[in-house]
Amino acid sequence: MKIVISILLLGIASFLIGKWIKHKSLYPFMPFRYDFRKRRNTFLKTMELMKRTKAKTIVETGTSREGLRGAKSNGAATIVFGKWAKENNAFVHSVDINEESVKNAQAEVDRQHLQEFVQIHHSDSLAFLEDFNETVDVLYLDSYDYSNDPEVQKKSQQHHLEEFQRIEDQLHDNSIVLIDDCDLPNGGKGKLVIDYMLDRGWKILVESYQVLLVRDNFIFDEAL
Ligand SMILES: C[S@@+](CC[C@H](N)C(=O)[O-])C[C@H]1O[C@@H](n2cnc3c(N)ncnc32)[C@H](O)[C@@H]1O
Repeated sequence: MKIVISILLLGIASFLIGKWIKHKSLYPFMPFRYDFRKRRNTFLKTMELMKRTKAKTIVETGTSREGLRGAKSNGAATIVFGKWAKENNAFVHSVDINEESVKNAQAEVDRQHLQEFVQIHHSDSLAFLEDFNETVDVLYLDSYDYSNDPEVQKKSQQHHLEEFQRIEDQLHDNSIVLIDDCDLPNGGKGKLVIDYMLDRGWKILVESYQVLLVRDNFIFDEAL
């Protein structure tokens, strides 16, 4: 009996340790319980660069449709960047074509008291970016959902390329671009846009599930 209980306890302990190791929180920036998993390190790196470049205007395509509940699945970037904006006197514009996504993201923005620092726009991202006339310090591309269907994959890749093309003239030497859902079959959302950027003076800084890019002449001066 004693042996059975010991094995059981060992099993529970290894299960909990395994879960704890996999859990990638942004604590203390965000409460420990939210698991940002495959995006945690790229979010941290992006926010470090945002601090160094004193980013003020952050634009996200595809909003946090599940609020913070979606930290692990979708990223919850609207809230992560919104919180960063609140602490650093910046502003997030997040655009989404889907009414339900906008409603859910807005509810989370309200719950987190980020209304002064985040605006959720209900629009197709291409139309929104076409009309957006401010300089963009951080561009986060994460709209048209990727899937296993090759036709959808192509459309998603084309859409993210066109998003970048709509706003590229408003990016400056120290702008930061982050692209989500890249480490997926057939290149993910970033396939076309990353090739396009690499041909135009951008370089990859971090390449993982998300890809982080800056310009070749990005200033890495610590004093920035
Ligand atoms: C993966 S979710 C975005 C997740 C969010 N960035 C986060 O970090 O939680 C993708 C969103 O893109 C939106 N979307 C799809 N096509 C779009 C388009 N053409 N313009 C704007 N948003 C679009 C969807 O409605 C969906 O809410």
